[in-house]
Amino acid sequence: MNKEYLISPSILSADFTQLGDQLKRAEDAGADWIHIDVMDGQFVPNISMGPVIVEACRRITDLPLDVHLMIIDPEKYLEDFADAGASNLTVHIETCPRMDQTLDKIRELGCKSGITLKPATSAEKIKPYLEKVDFVLVMTVNPGFSGQSFMPEMMPKIRDIRMMLDEINPEVPIEVDGGISPSTIGQAYENGARIFVSGSAIFDHPDGIKTGIKSLKDKI
Ligand code: DX5
Ligand code: ZN
Repeated sequence: MNKEYLISPSILSADFTQLGDQLKRAEDAGADWIHIDVMDGQFVPNISMGPVIVEACRRITDLPLDVHLMIIDPEKYLEDFADAGASNLTVHIETCPRMDQTLDKIRELGCKSGITLKPATSAEKIKPYLEKVDFVLVMTVNPGFSGQSFMPEMMPKIRDIRMMLDEINPEVPIEVDGGISPSTIGQAYENGARIFVSGSAIFDHPDGIKTGIKSLKDKI
């Protein structure tokens, strides 16, 4: 990672009647990645978007597209998302019984590989795969919806994963997702996170997307 930290706005909170305009605003305001939440109504209790939206985002922006797959059997769809223009593919440990192969496949497709885990899943579960990832995503809400409250009890997990990474794969950064706002981003940073996903604090900011991003950066 060249920069000290990255901001990855989650379009789950964007106004989809103006997606192109919203992405341009995020880009102009200094967004580093664009986070796209894929949900199947089975692994999580919500349905969101698929490769069609990734493909649309790819035509709007040159920023890396950070695709978070909250779906059962993600292996079946990796190629579709890569073809649609995904830059990063992040898969849940809870959905990948053959995680080694899944991570290999993501890299074969030319994407960066991310591994993630639900709040209830222990850090130990992802340890065997840390050699094969480009980043680790720590969920700080139960996946499924934007606008939920940040779980400060995940901070020890971030520290534990940081320690594991320092031993196994020190260049790998930790991303956090869920409830990141000006009042929570500082503690996530202090505990070791360096990539910040944020939906509602950016797209629902009363003064607009630019102020939303700036108010996060001001607290790091
Ligand atoms: C939740 C998603 C998040 C969500 C974040 O399942 O993975 O990316 O959009 O939204 P906020 O920042 O509002 O919690
Ligand atoms: Zn997400």
